[in-house]
Amino acid sequence: MDLEDFGYIFESLILYATFLGLGTCWLGGTFKKGEFSKVIGQNNDEILPCITPLGFPARRKSILESAMRFSAGSSKRKDWGELFFQNDFQQDLPCAAAEKYRIPLEMVRLAPSASNKQPWRIVKDQTRYHFYLKHTVGYAKYLAFDLQRVDLGIAMAHFEYSAKELGYVGKWAIRPPEEIDIPPHAEYIVSWDEQ
Ligand SMILES: Cc1cc2nc3c(=O)[nH]c(=O)nc-3n(C[C@H](O)[C@H](O)[C@H](O)COP(=O)(O)O)c2cc1C
Repeated sequence: MDLEDFGYIFESLILYATFLGLGTCWLGGTFKKGEFSKVIGQNNDEILPCITPLGFPARRKSILESAMRFSAGSSKRKDWGELFFQNDFQQDLPCAAAEKYRIPLEMVRLAPSASNKQPWRIVKDQTRYHFYLKHTVGYAKYLAFDLQRVDLGIAMAHFEYSAKELGYVGKWAIRPPEEIDIPPHAEYIVSWDEQ
């Protein structure tokens, strides 16, 4: 789970920088990997998945930034019905039925993701929340690794930090539920066990 771990830790840094009033931007595709790898003295057995600039944001967006945001549909997010389910992938988990985990789930929904693909899917079953990655077909072929696994780490950070903020106790476990049928292109990643 190296890429999920990277996403979790890097998003923690991004959230902290944001708390300090600094501007950031996840960059996984649009930076010159070769030059950065030289600067950090990257070894052959290491990968450099993403970077972020860190500083004071300009007051106005550049034309390039506006175009990138428009093409990724960055200002929109998928609805609850597309992302969250109860018991299996057949039944939606509506916001009103989410009860105490409404805010952690909403924080996952609002999280950043590569090209705003929002590949996370969560199935609630009793006291467990199972996280799945719905791969965007053809997306992984552009890079040497699967950037969408980084997105899942970001989702884990948003879910865990907001659950803890609300005083909820739980822990991560990799225990795929056998009774849940997984839709095409989706993959089980991890579960949050409420305690
Ligand atoms: C793992 C990851 C990689 C990203 N890579 C890029 C990138 O290479 N270039 C870029 O302009 N934005 C990149 N983004 C930013 C996303 O496009 C952005 O988060 C998404 O469109 C949603 O917009 P928002 O975060 O402003 O809400 C990346 C985001 C993530 C999480």
